[in-house]
Amino acid sequence: MRYPKECVLKECQEAIIRPLEAGDITLLEKFYSLISEDDRWFMRYDVGSPEVLQKWFENIDLAYVKSIVGVCEDKIVGHGSLHLRGYGATQHVGRFRIIVLPEYRQKRLGTWLLLDLIQLAMDEGLEALRTDLVVGVDNAAIEAVTKFDFFKEAVLRDYAKDRNGKFHDIAILIKRLHRQWSDF
Ligand SMILES: CC(C)(COP(=O)(O)OP(=O)(O)OC[C@H]1O[C@@H](n2cnc3c(N)ncnc32)[C@H](O)[C@@H]1OP(=O)(O)O)[C@@H](O)C(=O)NCCC(=O)NCCS
Repeated sequence: MRYPKECVLKECQEAIIRPLEAGDITLLEKFYSLISEDDRWFMRYDVGSPEVLQKWFENIDLAYVKSIVGVCEDKIVGHGSLHLRGYGATQHVGRFRIIVLPEYRQKRLGTWLLLDLIQLAMDEGLEALRTDLVVGVDNAAIEAVTKFDFFKEAVLRDYAKDRNGKFHDIAILIKRLHRQWSDF
């Protein structure tokens, strides 16, 4: 993948997509400070914590996490990460997360980040991508990934709890990958 890459959002706004870099910690802290606690609650790590972000940056060169960011007017406005296992029976399956600043949502940035994560996964030789999404909470993401041929493989009933203790189903969505887009 050639970075930095320019992309055009809705209303002709321009954004740059590039890998997360070692010097981005302050920009990423600012980004996550603007993400609501409700959105952060459903992430795997407490990204509101400086220690968690510090740890991410210590591991930034590790081969098993590929992070990309969308940048607009010198601000990080979107973050996508692809997670590889690197060992064992499910090493051919990648997982990912994408999060976009609320005021940049529904402008196609999430789609641009998703396309790049799919391409990165194909470049890594992965055979499938998996994402676990919370039904009734991550509906925008479920809608977005379904457009890219992710299908619902399973549902874990009442598996996650929101901040008020209410249970939600988790949908496990899978996309099979091919070496090239032209193999589809
Ligand atoms: C999910 C998320 C990343 C989408 O980012 P985005 O930049 O808004 O996405 P896009 O503008 O590219 O939208 C792509 C598609 O998603 C769907 N979508 C986006 N927002 C939606 C909404 N509020 N309701 C329903 N569908 C929605 C639409 O199908 C849209 O395609 P369209 O523009 O052709 O209608 C963003 O909403 C977000 O950060 N949500 C909170 C975190 C989260 O749920 N992450 C998912 C974990 S992977």
